[in-house]
Amino acid sequence: MKLITAYIKPFKLHDVKKALDGMGVQGMSVTEVRGYGRQKGQSELYRGEEYEVAFLPKIRIEIATTNELAEKMIPAIIKGAQTGKVGDGKILVSDLENVYRIRTEESGIDALAEYI
Ligand SMILES: Nc1ncnc2c1ncn2[C@@H]1O[C@H](COP(=O)(O)OP(=O)(O)OP(=O)(O)O)[C@@H](O)[C@H]1O
Ligand SMILES: [Mg+2]
Repeated sequence: MKLITAYIKPFKLHDVKKALDGMGVQGMSVTEVRGYGRQKGQSELYRGEEYEVAFLPKIRIEIATTNELAEKMIPAIIKGAQTGKVGDGKILVSDLENVYRIRTEESGIDALAEYI
């Protein structure tokens, strides 16, 4: 299993959601966060000059899923979130050791399965 953590531009959330629709997403969490990347939140790079780091608003999406689905979701998230301009975001992919569904006490892939 994988944990996908994506940082995207807030106005791209709808497009990312649409790109993931019908892909068998078993759940998703969305948080408003603030962060910066290699431009330190500045639109231009002031080489050698000191400037304040600016924390810009981003949306963090977390999806726990199977390895197979993660392979499909990553290009979909990229497609939905890409503008081609700086600050489009990052996708972090990590191995996920376990998942528990609290109600049923299922664990592992069973805890991710779609409701039928
Ligand atoms: N190394 C990182 N660790 C954690 N979060 C990060 C990291 N890099 C970026 N982020 C998050 O992603 C957001 C967008 O990052 P951003 O797209 O600017 O990355 P970048 O590497 O600077 O790429 P680009 O050059 O396209 O702007 C940041 O505001 C931050 O929330
Ligand atoms: Mg950047």
